[in-house]
Amino acid sequence: MEIQITSLKKVYGKKTALDGITFSVGNGMFGLIGRNGAGKTTLMRILATLSRPSGGQVTFDGIPMEDTKKIRSFIGYLPQEFSLYQDMSVLEIMRYLAALSDIPGKTCRERIPRLLQQVNLWDDRTKKAGKLSGGMKRRLGIAQALLDDPQVLIVDEPTAGLDPEERLRFYTLLDEFSGSRTVVVSSHIMSDIEAVCENVAVLDAGRLLFAGTVGTLAKKAEGKVFELAIPKKEQDAVKRDYHILSSQSCASDVRIRVLADRIPAGCPVSCAPTAWDGYMELLRQLEKGVEN
Ligand SMILES: Nc1ncnc2c1ncn2[C@@H]1O[C@H](COP(=O)(O)OP(=O)(O)OP(=O)(O)O)[C@@H](O)[C@H]1O
Ligand SMILES: [Mg+2]
Repeated sequence: MEIQITSLKKVYGKKTALDGITFSVGNGMFGLIGRNGAGKTTLMRILATLSRPSGGQVTFDGIPMEDTKKIRSFIGYLPQEFSLYQDMSVLEIMRYLAALSDIPGKTCRERIPRLLQQVNLWDDRTKKAGKLSGGMKRRLGIAQALLDDPQVLIVDEPTAGLDPEERLRFYTLLDEFSGSRTVVVSSHIMSDIEAVCENVAVLDAGRLLFAGTVGTLAKKAEGKVFELAIPKKEQDAVKRDYHILSSQSCASDVRIRVLADRIPAGCPVSCAPTAWDGYMELLRQLEKGVEN
C-alpha cells in the first residue's frame, strides 16, 4: 500500500510538532528516525487516524484519511506506551480483543495460536500479562496489533528498554510480517532501523530532514568520516574541533571516528559512511545552519 503524506502539519497551541512534511511510504519496512520531540509519535498517531492534523493530507492508496472507518479496517497500531489487562492471561487477552474487533470464531481459533506461536508466546499463553517481561509484553502488543491482519502496521518505538537479543527478535518478526504489507516503525536507534528498513525518513523538531534509502542517507556523510588514533591527552582538543561519532580507548591512545569537512590532522583514515554517519551529518548541518 502507498501512503502519501503531503504538507502535513500539526500544531499544539504554540508548539509546531509537524511543520508541513511531504513524503511517501510503500510496501515493506519503513523506518522513522528522529531525536526526542522530533514528531514521530505525532505523525504515527495521525497515520493511525487517532489525531487530526492542523493542515495537509494523508492518503492510503488514494483513500483520504478523512475516511477513518475504511482506514481503520486495514491499519494496525502499536503505541509507544500501551497498557495490558494485567490480570488476564495472554490467551484471554487475545480472545477478548478478537471479540471486541468482531473477528469470527473460526478465524480466531486458527489465527490466535498462529500469532502467539509467531511471537513466541504460545508456551506462555496461560501467563498473566502482569507477569510478562518487557520483551514479552512488546511481543504480545504486536500479536494484538496483528489480530485483524492489517495491511498497514504502525509501530512506535517498539524496542525501547529491550535487550539486543529481544530487539533483534522483534525486528525479525516485523520483517517476516511485512512482505507485501506496509510496516512503519519508529526509533532513535539507527542500527536497528538500518538492519531491517530499506527506506527511512528523518524528522527533527517537526521538520523532514531526509526521506529515501538508507544507502542515500549514508552518502550524506561521504568523504567526511575519518578515523584517527591520538594520544589521550590530546583528545579534548580534537573533540572541540570535530564532531565525534564514536571514541574508543586503547592503551594510552584513543581511537576516534569523526565527521569533518576537511581532512583532520594526525594521519586519519578515510572511512565508508554508514546510515548513522549520514544521520549525524544531517544533524551537524542543521546545527551549523543555526549557528550561521
Ligand atoms: N498533546 C500534546 N500537547 C502539546 N504538545 C505536544 C503534545 N504531543 C506532543 N507534543 C509536542 O510535540 C513535539 C513532538 O512530540 P512527539 O511525541 O511527536 O515526538 P517524538 O519524536 O515521538 O519524541 P520521542 O522520541 O520522545 O517519543 C514535542 O515537542 C512534544 O512536546
Ligand atoms: Mg514518540
